[in-house]
Amino acid sequence: MRERLFKKFEEVFGDSEGAVLYFAPGRVNLIGEHTDYNGGHVFPCALNIGTYAVARKNNQNQMNLFSMNFESMGVVSVPASDFVYRKEDDWCNYPKGVMWAFTEEGFPVKSGLDILYFGNIPNGSGLSSSASIEVVTGVILKDLFSHDVDMIKISLIAQKAENQFNGVNCGIMDQFAIAMGKKDHAIFLDTADLSYTYAPIHLENAKIVIACSNKKRGLADSKYNERRSQCETALAQIQKVKNIRNLGELTEEEFEEVKDAISDPVNVKRAKHAVYENQRTIRAVEALQSGDIALFGKLMNESHVSLRDDYEVTGKELDTLVEAAWEQTGVIGSRMTGAGFGGCTVSIVENEHIDAFIEQVGKKYLDTIGYAADFYVVEIGDGAHKVK
Ligand code: GLA
Repeated sequence: MRERLFKKFEEVFGDSEGAVLYFAPGRVNLIGEHTDYNGGHVFPCALNIGTYAVARKNNQNQMNLFSMNFESMGVVSVPASDFVYRKEDDWCNYPKGVMWAFTEEGFPVKSGLDILYFGNIPNGSGLSSSASIEVVTGVILKDLFSHDVDMIKISLIAQKAENQFNGVNCGIMDQFAIAMGKKDHAIFLDTADLSYTYAPIHLENAKIVIACSNKKRGLADSKYNERRSQCETALAQIQKVKNIRNLGELTEEEFEEVKDAISDPVNVKRAKHAVYENQRTIRAVEALQSGDIALFGKLMNESHVSLRDDYEVTGKELDTLVEAAWEQTGVIGSRMTGAGFGGCTVSIVENEHIDAFIEQVGKKYLDTIGYAADFYVVEIGDGAHKVK
């Protein structure tokens, strides 16, 4: 990989003197969906696929950005002093957003940079290819400009870039998981205060299988921001009758007691999902820690049902994949992962049944939807870093 990337860098930028290689993973969330902007818990892990970047300082006072995934765009050059969102810059708005946010946060961009990106996460698949580009850019800025900024702060800056520069009101889960990931562990993160613990994932006879629906979706033009504001409306109405800061503070019982304060029945369902999913995530991690993988899987399945029926973010493609998965032998649990509206599902499948799982779920999907899904048997990798 290194050789291929440096060769391309030389082709694009003339030579590779002073260039350094960095990597940021993609992420998959095992459970705890649409809870991170409600002050709830999430349980994601970093993947062994992600975004590579080769970067060095230049003396042109401009950012020269090139992606091997968007070769036809060529090198996009922007002034190193003035970062503005421009639709036609497409993927470059992610690195530019991080450069803007670093500056805003008091970590100045001190010179121009030449950066080549290469991602092996399918774009728009819900495995956080965009957050991966953001976080790798953050690691580059920290390293090349010697900024005293830790990985949690980098994840917050990347989130700010996504929210304020790219206009997607995402929570902290993706950037946090990508910055803080740890090989063979998932991160049990409380998004209310960013406290977290690492939980080892030792699946003795099983693996994590991701199925990509290949239904493309952009977060911004999806209903993501709408869901978020529905939860905010529900919270504001509950706050008139109960003193809470966010939906993640409520147990199921407490929610049932106050739900009548929410005027719109649709928003009742949205808030219900946020509350129940948070409690489910806490229980799922307890189940995993006590070695009850079957219960963990059952809670994954319940998570999907809640996302399908109450939060309404699944759609035909994800439902087809998950419902086909539930019918297979050796499936411990299966659910959509990420924002939804397309993207991927995550399943835990016993080793000896993985081939049949891929074949049969793949066939069912093709027959029902009319185009193929892609399957990835993944491993849990480390968070973003400089590649030595
Ligand atoms: C996207 C967002 C995350 C999170 C998930 C849903 O991935 O970027 O912050 O809200 O959707 O759980």
